[in-house]
Amino acid sequence: MHVTVYSTQPYDRRFLEAMRETRFADAGIQWHFQEAALNAETVALAHGSQAVCVFVNDSLDEAVLAGLHAAGVEAVVLRCAGYNNVDLEAARRLGLFVARVPAYSPEAVAEHAMALIMTLNRKTHRAYNRVREGNFALDGLLGETLFGKTAGVVGTGRIGLAMARLLHGFGCRVLGFDPYPSPDFAAWGESAALDDLLAASDIVTLHCPLTDATHHLIDGDALARMKPGAMLVNTSRGALIDTPAVIEALKARRLGALAIDVYEQESELFFRDHSAEIIDDDLFARLTSFPNVLMTGHQGFFTAEALDEIAQVTCENLLAFRDGSPCANRLA
Ligand code: NAI
Repeated sequence: MHVTVYSTQPYDRRFLEAMRETRFADAGIQWHFQEAALNAETVALAHGSQAVCVFVNDSLDEAVLAGLHAAGVEAVVLRCAGYNNVDLEAARRLGLFVARVPAYSPEAVAEHAMALIMTLNRKTHRAYNRVREGNFALDGLLGETLFGKTAGVVGTGRIGLAMARLLHGFGCRVLGFDPYPSPDFAAWGESAALDDLLAASDIVTLHCPLTDATHHLIDGDALARMKPGAMLVNTSRGALIDTPAVIEALKARRLGALAIDVYEQESELFFRDHSAEIIDDDLFARLTSFPNVLMTGHQGFFTAEALDEIAQVTCENLLAFRDGSPCANRLA
């Protein structure tokens, strides 16, 4: 089976090619790696493939899906959990098989969110640079003890649960909001209404998917309802927060700190080196100017364990498509 892999990075190639040394050795999957992201202009690169393998910033709107279908593609396998970038209705109409990797080391993302919280709170990123320059002054590095703080987890699914467990381990009081709460959450925290969670939490961390209902979930209103000085953490999807409203809250000194691994306009920036270019995105530039904002470029998933699991489940999904066997990861 020929599979065109879009948005290929060196690590994607490494982990997908490594599947040749595993139980998938005889699966007959031939990867065709493309650095280009999938969009209306790059659909033609899939010509001759039965399937395409895509990531978070590939665009799979109706026109692109129709283009893939016309090029002879029958399956789309996402090497990620979120699927907000796929028009599933259109895929169903076109009879395309679509499957994702629903869970790959949820702990990887939760641990990254924890790393952001710890870095931003104790300012280890700044301390690292100071010490390398022989500056051992502590002024400006003051943090807060996490033990005893209240942390609000919005979305208590796989990653939210892992996050609740970590926060509980730090001695935080953990509140959770989820319209479909998991019974497992009770082991690590208390369920709360979103408004109560926002009002009571010193840290609010987002772990819900991006849907119409969660788009700009954290807007000006929600920010006004948050505890003054609280930290907001988003490792889920950029559009969960209204970036201009967050910038206003930071400027007004109401929002205490912001840690993000995702950004609404990230598809223009992330996963590539722009260090020698002028970045035109003024919102992004404003965010980088705050000392109390920490950003990473969508690396929550980026552990060896998670990449290995993504590659394995991607192969399983392709074989389920080829064999017409049941596939629990199927979206369309
Ligand atoms: P999941 O499906 O296990 O959990 C999501 C939870 O959010 C569910 O329990 C659901 O009921 C809840 N939810 C739905 N609507 C909600 C709302 N309006 N308010 C609060 N909760 C709501 O998904 P999982 O695996 O925990 O992943 C969560 C998100 O994390 C993904 O959708 C994806 O966007 C993001 N993600 C980010 C990664 C990164 O590298 N930064 C990697 C993997 C996922």
